[in-house]
Amino acid sequence: MLLHHADIRCGVGGPLVTIARATGASITGINFNAHQIRRGEERVRRAGLDGSCAFLYADYMDVPLDDGTFDALYSFEAVCHAPNRALAFREQYRLLKPGADAAIVDWCLTDAFDSANREHMDIRARIERHNATPELLTAGEYVEAVQSAGFEVIEAVDQQAEYGRLRLRREGARPLTIRSATGDRGRSGSHVGCGNGYFVLLYCVLHAGTRPQTSHIPR
Ligand SMILES: C[S@@+](CC[C@H](N)C(=O)[O-])C[C@H]1O[C@@H](n2cnc3c(N)ncnc32)[C@H](O)[C@@H]1O
Repeated sequence: MLLHHADIRCGVGGPLVTIARATGASITGINFNAHQIRRGEERVRRAGLDGSCAFLYADYMDVPLDDGTFDALYSFEAVCHAPNRALAFREQYRLLKPGADAAIVDWCLTDAFDSANREHMDIRARIERHNATPELLTAGEYVEAVQSAGFEVIEAVDQQAEYGRLRLRREGARPLTIRSATGDRGRSGSHVGCGNGYFVLLYCVLHAGTRPQTSHIPR
């Protein structure tokens, strides 16, 4: 059976083509940038995936698709752009079949971030301005937003820890630990984000549970 996945805020379709090639999944990329969609369509066509992958021009806060459309979804560095993360995650939850899984990667602040520190605030302002994001959330706030939409957090990991272990050891940075909702599959991360330790790329694996689907987001 061909599983139908969503790439929420898909950019120009780079991850979409890589994942479709690797898994054979059918993927719909959702984006509200028509230029990026045209580039994505060209990329998919060149990869010979136009029979199984497609793009939908839509605002991810209100996607014109039925509840439970997708078997799985992923979203890379994208929910950080949402004016309201909790509502963005509710819409993602709605689009998934009950019991389906999701994977999210996004920018967050670690708890080493200090709003009284001018250097921290300056770096944060530059990240927010250059990436066109509203206020970044801490990793804990981000996980709360995910959970408030109904997802169970299977795993939440500071990705930088995977690449920053040497630096972590050198500088003796404190570890960041975000436990899963059930506490049984939690993993440790570190404060080594963007080479300075105040920011992380948080990787979450989510489970949509089996409770009834939420209705469409009220406007
Ligand atoms: C930083 S890019 C990430 C692209 C892609 N996920 C990747 O990893 O290559 C953010 C993407 O989110 C899209 N985006 C931002 N706000 C959106 C919205 N409200 N609805 C749909 N797409 C949105 C942008 O057009 C852009 O393609």
